[in-house]
Amino acid sequence: MRTYLITGGAGFIGSNFILYMLNKYNDIKIINVDALTYAGNLENLKEIEKNSNYGFVKADICDNEKIEEIFKNNDIDYVINFAAESHVDRSIKNPEIFAKTNILGTVVLLDIAKKYWQDGEGFIEGKKYLQVSTDEVYGSLGDDGFFHEYTPLDPHSPYSASKASADMIVKSYIDTYKFPANITRCSNNYGPYQFPEKLIPLVINNCLEGRDLPVYGDGKNIRDWLYVEDHAKAIDMVINKGRLGQIYNIGGHNEKQNIEIVNIIIDTLNQILDENDVRKKYISDKLIKYVKDRKGHDRRYAIDPSKIKDEIGWYPETCFEEGIKRTIKWYLENEEWLKNITNGEYLNYYSEMYE
Ligand SMILES: NC(=O)c1ccc[n+]([C@@H]2O[C@H](COP(=O)([O-])OP(=O)(O)OC[C@H]3O[C@@H](n4cnc5c(N)ncnc54)[C@H](O)[C@@H]3O)[C@@H](O)[C@H]2O)c1
Repeated sequence: MRTYLITGGAGFIGSNFILYMLNKYNDIKIINVDALTYAGNLENLKEIEKNSNYGFVKADICDNEKIEEIFKNNDIDYVINFAAESHVDRSIKNPEIFAKTNILGTVVLLDIAKKYWQDGEGFIEGKKYLQVSTDEVYGSLGDDGFFHEYTPLDPHSPYSASKASADMIVKSYIDTYKFPANITRCSNNYGPYQFPEKLIPLVINNCLEGRDLPVYGDGKNIRDWLYVEDHAKAIDMVINKGRLGQIYNIGGHNEKQNIEIVNIIIDTLNQILDENDVRKKYISDKLIKYVKDRKGHDRRYAIDPSKIKDEIGWYPETCFEEGIKRTIKWYLENEEWLKNITNGEYLNYYSEMYE
């Protein structure tokens, strides 16, 4: 039975990944290590918390001792590092925590894995570390072109700079020690369990509450959107089939301007909500409020995913039209989850369940 150490598994993508893996395989063990910052929510994992192949450890990835203890007590085969401070706006206000978690935390994981994964002859076969990175490390594109794996790194926000630094550290372990690792760089994700500070859940939540929909600048910044389950599938495939030492871009050729996203959500909500739902009265483009642009706001991201498609056979299964409908329906069916986040109730979940 292979054992996965998943860091940041209580966050948006990490929890979707854990659910995906435990639904797909019944012969793997998952240890989820998460510091439970404001972005970590164990309610995301309610449906599998009693699964005997799953365990949770509350720990900071910067905490050498706790991470080492996990390696000492378990034969870890794979580390997948999702743990990060992940919100660009927060990084502009407070870069330090981004440097700590995203860079130093990565070094701690690499160092301990390096220590436990070697025998007398080098690295034990089958072990692998996967760094979950982002297309934001490449900086911004003009009107055309795509990010390739060989595009030079040119991060602009403290968030993307910290992710690029972590990528460089992972690369240095690959080059210096022949450390068994992959780096994946994915475009913007959307789907269930995303914290409502990010564009799509924020717009859904504000629409439902009749609040303004803040849109940065002229609203024409472009992101390349991917349904989170397709990201989970890609990571699973890179773990199993990715060539050691390689970087893989993950994206679905699905570029959309922010303002298009906002309008699609307004239209989709109006289609889905019951005819008599009172909220339909106020959900319209009248809620849109253009606000001062984000500092250093990258204009356009777009991924070329041909390498992962050609080498590994990955492709995105969920088109945007389908994915956004599923996502909106999920938020409508899980208003309790959303409420628990907006009123801070989710923070009590850990102490109620685990302490
Ligand atoms: N969201 C996206 O669109 C996107 C796209 C590409 C890559 N990524 C990358 O994917 C990863 C996950 O992103 P997300 O959107 O799920 O983020 P998230 O903010 O929803 O979750 C991050 C998780 O990490 C945990 N965490 C934070 N600091 C920690 C620490 N020091 N020790 C242990 N746990 C800690 C948090 O509690 C939370 O559960 C990140 O590395 C991010 O850079 C995200």
